[in-house]
Amino acid sequence: MSLTKIALQALLPGTLCWLALGCGGEGGKAQATGGNPTVAGAAGMTPAAGSGGSSGSAQAGAGGAGTANGGAGAGGMVAGGGKNGGAMGGMNAASGGLGGASGGLGGANGGLGGASAAGGMGASMGGAGTLVFAGPGCTVPLAEADEPTLLTKTGCVDPQDPTRPDASLVGYDVNSPLWSDGASKERYISLPPGSKIHVKDCVAEPDTCKSVDDGGTAEDEGHWDLPVGTTVMKVFLLADKPIETRLLMHVTDSQWRGYSFEWNDAGTDATLLDDKKDKTIGSQSWHYPSRAECLQCHTEAAGRSLGPMTQQLNRDYAYADGMTNVIDEFQALGAFEHAPTRIAGYPSPTGSDTLESRARSYLAANCAICHRPGSTVSDIDLRFTTSFADTLLCNQAISAHPDDTNLPPLRLVPSDPANSNLSFRMHSTIDGYRMPKLSSSVVDTAGTMLIDQWIDSIQSCP
Ligand code: HEC
Ligand code: HEC
Repeated sequence: MSLTKIALQALLPGTLCWLALGCGGEGGKAQATGGNPTVAGAAGMTPAAGSGGSSGSAQAGAGGAGTANGGAGAGGMVAGGGKNGGAMGGMNAASGGLGGASGGLGGANGGLGGASAAGGMGASMGGAGTLVFAGPGCTVPLAEADEPTLLTKTGCVDPQDPTRPDASLVGYDVNSPLWSDGASKERYISLPPGSKIHVKDCVAEPDTCKSVDDGGTAEDEGHWDLPVGTTVMKVFLLADKPIETRLLMHVTDSQWRGYSFEWNDAGTDATLLDDKKDKTIGSQSWHYPSRAECLQCHTEAAGRSLGPMTQQLNRDYAYADGMTNVIDEFQALGAFEHAPTRIAGYPSPTGSDTLESRARSYLAANCAICHRPGSTVSDIDLRFTTSFADTLLCNQAISAHPDDTNLPPLRLVPSDPANSNLSFRMHSTIDGYRMPKLSSSVVDTAGTMLIDQWIDSIQSCP
């Protein structure tokens, strides 16, 4: 069982402890005496929050307070995995049922917290509930309401220079990126230490590649199933200035959440947005997606996390020690359950592979998240490995708004991009017509040209 699974079970009644910290079953006792675990947890957290980062003795005091409360509180305890003293104090306070020994530990950790600049983290957690993962790296709260509202409090970035990721995050790049209205992007993974990535492999585990109805999983072969507690961070830059940071968190086995943080003009921090927002930046309108919109593209059918898959990451990236293949880097970190099969990388849409494979790579990355079996529009299948015939594009009548005379009535007409609905929708900036459906208002000149050239090159339908 992975560390994160254990950690998560700590939140469930009956199994109460963060085993990584070695407190084992005793937590159970603590909860039994603590009564309402939520309240007890909150009690544990509060003193830690109040004294976060102030001094070691204050943290020790927090431990004592927890003991006095007799509070078990899965909340504070799991929070205690945090790298800062504030949260540590909270943990030991919350697990006060363990008695004097834990109080002493609280003091020790509190001392660390006092010395650490990140000591304020506990405070930003506001004495609230539980954490799925508490760092190092991005904190993953169980409850959405507990997400820190400032990027510098998330654990994902260096609080001294929030344009840099926390040292524990691992960077990567993808072969075939999502078009993001001309923004450049940085991507990083925060993986709970000791937890393992499972890579979907149809040879080793043929059952996972059956149809979903027959018990298979929906995502593509080569998909990296990131463990619970993982956060993936994507930073968007326009004219070299960060404008938005998105965090995608794996919260429980079945739950993912997305957050958008809007950067301030000075580039010193970014603030969590409650809802979608449009803002004029330079000459363009930038869309910050809502949490619901995140999951409309990060579909269950595509596996929620989208870029991390062997076909996207089989490529080099500039790590601190030089250019290294991303898969090699993660393998060297011991991040995989099994060394992944080296499926060939998607061709770069701007590279020198064949026109068809570059076009299909573009459609796979940008469109197949919604246009695949089991997803939003399942009667078009734009996955990379689907044969052209099975994409159901060629000379097929459209199914959306067939009576709208502004729309080309066929999805793709060989050698005729102008009369191909697919091309029309990529060129359109009209809401309701535009593809990709969400979060883009600037036409991808290179991307549409690639798709048009490909359509031009098609002589007849298969
Ligand atoms: C238009 C569809 C779309 C929307 C809306 C969207 N994403 Fe994504 N996102 C993608 C695609 C496709 C990728 C993978 C390709 C890439 O990284 O360029 C991706 C990648 C990411 C990554 C890197 C990890 C991964 O899954 O590949 C993060 C983090 C992320 N998105 C967060 C978010 C968050 C948070 C939101 C909402 C605030 C959001 N995204 C909204 C399509 C979308
Ligand atoms: C967030 C999900 C999403 C993404 C991403 C997305 N689409 Fe769509 N697409 C839809 C939905 C929903 C519809 C149908 C309703 C409508 O017309 O808006 C649709 C309709 C279409 C249609 C019309 C099909 C028909 O039979 O009427 C085409 C063609 C299309 N999309 C192409 C694309 C292309 C090309 C991309 C990538 C550049 C893309 N889509 C990305 C959700 C998406």
